[in-house]
Amino acid sequence: MDTMKGLKRTNYCGELSRADAGKEVVVCGFVQKQRDKGPLVFIDLRDRTGIVQLTFDDKSAPEQREKAKAVRAEYVLMAKGMVRVRESINPELKTGEIEVAVNDLRILSKSETPPFHITDETNVNEELRLKYRYLDLRRSPMQQTMMLRHKIVKAARDYYDENGFIEIETPVLIKSTPEGARDYLVPSRVHPGSFYALPQSPQLYKQLLMLAGYDRYMQVARCFRDEDLRADRQPEFTQIDLEMSFVDQDDVMAVNEGFMKYVFKKILNIDIQTPFKRLPYEEAMHRYGSDKPDTRFGMELCDLSDLLTETEFKVFRGALDNGGSVRALIAKNAAGVLSRKEIDKLVELVKTYRAKGLAYTRLTAEAESSSYEKFLSEQEKNAIRKRLGAETGDVILIVADASDDIVCESLGQLRCELGKRLELIDETKYEFLWVTHFPLFEYDEEAGRYAAKHHPFTAVADEDIDKLESDPAHCHAKAYDMVLNGCEVGGGSIRINDPQLQQRMFRALGFSEEDAYARFGFLIDAFKFGAPPHGGMAYGLDRLVMLMLHKESIRDVIAFPKVQNASELMTQCPSEVDESQLNELGIQVVKREE
Ligand code: AMO
Ligand code: AMP
Repeated sequence: MDTMKGLKRTNYCGELSRADAGKEVVVCGFVQKQRDKGPLVFIDLRDRTGIVQLTFDDKSAPEQREKAKAVRAEYVLMAKGMVRVRESINPELKTGEIEVAVNDLRILSKSETPPFHITDETNVNEELRLKYRYLDLRRSPMQQTMMLRHKIVKAARDYYDENGFIEIETPVLIKSTPEGARDYLVPSRVHPGSFYALPQSPQLYKQLLMLAGYDRYMQVARCFRDEDLRADRQPEFTQIDLEMSFVDQDDVMAVNEGFMKYVFKKILNIDIQTPFKRLPYEEAMHRYGSDKPDTRFGMELCDLSDLLTETEFKVFRGALDNGGSVRALIAKNAAGVLSRKEIDKLVELVKTYRAKGLAYTRLTAEAESSSYEKFLSEQEKNAIRKRLGAETGDVILIVADASDDIVCESLGQLRCELGKRLELIDETKYEFLWVTHFPLFEYDEEAGRYAAKHHPFTAVADEDIDKLESDPAHCHAKAYDMVLNGCEVGGGSIRINDPQLQQRMFRALGFSEEDAYARFGFLIDAFKFGAPPHGGMAYGLDRLVMLMLHKESIRDVIAFPKVQNASELMTQCPSEVDESQLNELGIQVVKREE
């Protein structure tokens, strides 16, 4: 193997151009491809900036040519030579006008044949790519993504710095305060039987920083949540987290709209219009069946309940008599795509969101078919068609249920599916909006009590303060989510800064005074010593990067992500540990039978 002795890199491969012709350069990188054409040997050398062609010809020293002939894909090379204009220009390549005629080739490291080719496009399955992630990360699209992610994080630090925020690190080993997702626990060796938790977010610490007078804080913070994974969820992920003192909701929103404007201009050169639209939660649920609506397309939900107050159709009647609703979607011109068989699949889809069924009418020119119209009066049937503006070629889809939430949510999911299926979504668009006026609580069926929808430190809307104990179901929060293209990219709230109100909140959540004190005593105490009004929010950085770069999954924007079952395929973690490690921690593992 050769060494680098006597050579220093002068240029990156992808940055050489016609302007460098005649210069002697030293480049380094990985072999993309080697072509042996008898007297001529070509090597495409790749670094993170791109590819340049190294050339060996009959003027090269024979031993240099021999060395070049022995080179294979992914070998690590260093090469000194003269940049010259190519005889045949390759318009596909950024550096396609030039090549480096090498006079000193060094093989710094050899490579076995890799398990897959390092190419821009790939159909290699994700499992293999993740097992050899360091090879996958050599692919140019991955490298571009990682570099853009870095630039987005830098833009965040710059923007918030320019706006008076300071970055402060908060601890990663913290107290477990079970509320929200499941904690990851870390056993303490020094205190056997006691555990730290990894933070689900820096929430409590950033509020304490406001109490400590830091006024404006931000942090690029790693967060940990032991929850079921999806395309937009990882057990560890990164937040751009911030908090501000002496502000109301409008102030937090304005600063963060400013950040979106800044980062989209800086990274993508796209002008984002501000302020963003605001949609109260209830309106979002009724119009889109989602608290993170994708507003890149229409097809809004339509309430039919008032048309059916006298209906004899038992499915609709039953829903309405039990305090529910009947709502519909109309898929324009979709009868061709949505055959009976396809509609059957949609029935299964809504059932996974707890709907009991899906009624439909297909308005085809040849023969109309409907699962429910035969049960309705002529007047009801026509009133529904009229309200939906139904025409030949359309498909009407209806859900009825005694729970309006189930009706809205299942139709919302159906709307998203149809948006994709019917290609209604303009993928080039970035549609922002704020969802506001969230319910303060949601009922936790399992626990049989109310739980905070955002978190227990979120302020109640001024007009609802008196209802906190008497009517928690109808209290609203000073909370807001930033939604981009149907994904929740960020969320936050104005916090409670009155200790009495915080106590009432804990009570409403079913914590006794002692209980609340055991969990959050340090916070309750802290609020006794002067607490400015404050609020903030946090972005899911991975989601933001995914959406900005039009990636399918947050795994595509994380260097070393975990898979569905929360394991990492490359290092094979989580893994068992030595008995001695467990002994030291005083931990005994009880194996559960599968
Ligand atoms: P929240 O829980 O809404 O708020 O989280 C803020 C944002 O973080 C992202 N996010 C995730 N991203 C990837 N994987 C996950 N498992 C995951 N969970 C959440 C989302 C979300 O909008 N402390 C509060 C913020 C505040 O009130 O200031 C908080 O953590 O994009
Ligand atoms: P049934 O009389 O129960 O067979 O229902 C008649 C039609 O109404 C069938 O096409 C069902 O798919 C549909 N349907 C059943 N339950 C619901 C529901 N909860 N919401 C909307 N449609 C339903």
